[in-house]
Amino acid sequence: MAARWCLGPTPKSMSDLEIEIIRQLFLDQTGEVYAKESVKTLPIPEWGGNLLLLDENNMIRGLLWANKFGIFRTRVVAFVIDSEFKGKGFGSIAWDMYMKVAKAEGLNEVQLEVRSDNEMAIGFYSRRGLEIIENLDGYYQSGQGYVMRGQL
Ligand SMILES: CC(C)(COP(=O)(O)OP(=O)(O)OC[C@H]1O[C@@H](n2cnc3c(N)ncnc32)[C@H](O)[C@@H]1OP(=O)(O)O)[C@@H](O)C(=O)NCCC(=O)NCCS
Repeated sequence: MAARWCLGPTPKSMSDLEIEIIRQLFLDQTGEVYAKESVKTLPIPEWGGNLLLLDENNMIRGLLWANKFGIFRTRVVAFVIDSEFKGKGFGSIAWDMYMKVAKAEGLNEVQLEVRSDNEMAIGFYSRRGLEIIENLDGYYQSGQGYVMRGQL
């Protein structure tokens, strides 16, 4: 299945259709319900940590949305891939692209939140050097979460 990662626009400049596709991706892949406005107002600038996975028809099939906070840190706000495209190496490619740009911009720490029952994602991040540094209660609509952090 062919798809490619491209630099994405800011969420606030996306069309209603694109936002709807992203809401559906979040729901399918994480079980979390987000309002249209919550997606549109996510603070994701245009940079190498804002990547969209587009298929042959230029449909959005995944995204990696990260921002910068403080002087040296970057935070992954969302990372999801459509079921048809999962487990085919696209996630690893996006992560590598994002890390390369973050390092080049002088950032040295990456942080994110993940549900504690999401073993696949925790494994993915652990193999990339991130560690659980904190428990989160009530962060997700269902279940507990962790904060994970790693060096770039
Ligand atoms: C997490 C996610 C973005 C990773 O993207 P992906 O394209 O599926 O990842 P890849 O195909 O590059 O695989 C990455 C790794 O996961 C492993 N993997 C893939 N599918 C797996 C599965 N079903 N079970 C366990 N491991 C799996 C691969 O072997 C690979 O191992 P590596 O770390 O040694 O390279 C994607 O799976 C996803 O959207 N998951 C649902 C949403 C989610 O959990 N997001 C993270 C929230 S913080």
